[in-house]
Amino acid sequence: MPSLRDVTIVNLFYENSTRTRISFELAEKRLSADTINFTASGSSVSKGETLLDTVNNILSMKVDMVVMRHSASGAPHFLSQHIPAAIVNAGDGVNEHPTQGLLDAFSIREKVGKLAGTKVAIIGDITHSRVAMSNMYLLKKMGAEVTLCGPPTLIPKYAREAFGVNVSYNLEETLNWCDVANVLHIQLERQNQVLFSSLREYNLSYGISRKLLEGLKKDVVIMHPGPINRGVELDSDVADSGQSIILQQVENGVAVRMAVLYLLSNKNN
Ligand code: CP
Repeated sequence: MPSLRDVTIVNLFYENSTRTRISFELAEKRLSADTINFTASGSSVSKGETLLDTVNNILSMKVDMVVMRHSASGAPHFLSQHIPAAIVNAGDGVNEHPTQGLLDAFSIREKVGKLAGTKVAIIGDITHSRVAMSNMYLLKKMGAEVTLCGPPTLIPKYAREAFGVNVSYNLEETLNWCDVANVLHIQLERQNQVLFSSLREYNLSYGISRKLLEGLKKDVVIMHPGPINRGVELDSDVADSGQSIILQQVENGVAVRMAVLYLLSNKNN
């Protein structure tokens, strides 16, 4: 489908990524866009070049759209106030990961058949998770019921009031309540203080095992945005089971990102 022929897109990744970067690149190629891949390592960022200078230099080479991942929350918003090109947020710090939210919602609807009234548990490190934030906004907007579950140190105290969600610190109760469990990556790389005593302790209280799932009253759909810490938030025999839709999420990411790129280009006008 040559919908984005003559459109040039830069994938600007200041932070590591496997799924998001590759699926944006595939989405662009499937729409016949021209793509450039930029990673901060190996670029002139190491020589002190600012984000704005980097992007303005890339745009001067007639680049039309920017897909951007950055470790600083708000970086895409900052950029949007200084450059004319369309910017797609591919994950910014602990703020948002909008296309992950879209592909998660799409995957739930594909599996369950609807979003309104579906009970979704978001489990794990809510405080450091941009995936949790984008999931909450979208799922609540679409009429799903949302419960956040994890240790009290990893769930913001304001979450219940701010987002209209339920909060539970009991994993088994939460799994018995929900239709879908979206299990988050423990953000070891973003924690600058110790918020639980050890990974082993986390796994004992909040890790999802086959034994735990077998004790529930119903089959819960298991999701995870990746990358999985196997044996921490999710055991391998759960991640790789028929209850898991983790690889379908990845597959859906390409289609969802194709739609986002198409809608943000001027080609649909
Ligand atoms: N889900 C997600 O954002 O994964 P990556 O960090 O590999 O892109």
